[in-house]
Amino acid sequence: MNFADKNEFKSKIKGVLISEDEIKEAIKKAGKIISDSYDGTPILLVSILKGAYVFLADLSRAIDVPCEIDFMEAKSYYADTKSSGSVAITMDLKHDISKYHVIIVEDIIDTGRTLSEVIKLLKAREPVSLKVVTLLDKPSRREVKLDADYSLFTIPDKFVIGYGLDFNEYYRNLPYIAEYNEGTI
Ligand code: IMP
Ligand code: MG
Repeated sequence: MNFADKNEFKSKIKGVLISEDEIKEAIKKAGKIISDSYDGTPILLVSILKGAYVFLADLSRAIDVPCEIDFMEAKSYYADTKSSGSVAITMDLKHDISKYHVIIVEDIIDTGRTLSEVIKLLKAREPVSLKVVTLLDKPSRREVKLDADYSLFTIPDKFVIGYGLDFNEYYRNLPYIAEYNEGTI
């Protein structure tokens, strides 16, 4: 993807949907809820690359009980549009999760397919507990039954960018969540 100039790049940002301040406030609250829910036994924050990297960086700093972080990368392959599918782990965790309270930190739950496969996979490794925290939730798009234990923002069926979320790998560095402008300039 090439942009003619900076203006073309910027013209694709339709408008701020969730501001930096709103995100900060919600993360402070989520960090407190997470910190209050655990007694000091080890927590492992698991992030699925790449979309959740910004959220993980901020959420982890809002948690004040012992926690470690780890990353995995997953790619989904589906034979059809139904719920049967498989997830290939292209980069696995470094931790043996059986000793940890695992919290999956996600950027967005859309159809729910990728995450539901990752959950199955991690459950099989028998962590002490397993929870899901997502920054954004688009429940209207769900194709498999899946609820996050904690969701910071519910959004309508719009394609969003920023704060880690991309369109063709761009816009992850926006400090806010914006709607992507699919039309031409
Ligand atoms: P799903 O829940 O298996 O459909 O996949 C969710 C993944 O799709 C997320 O982790 C994102 O990487 C990507 N995704 C879904 N909706 C959006 C969006 O609005 N903007 C950017 N990425 C999205
Ligand atoms: Mg993602």
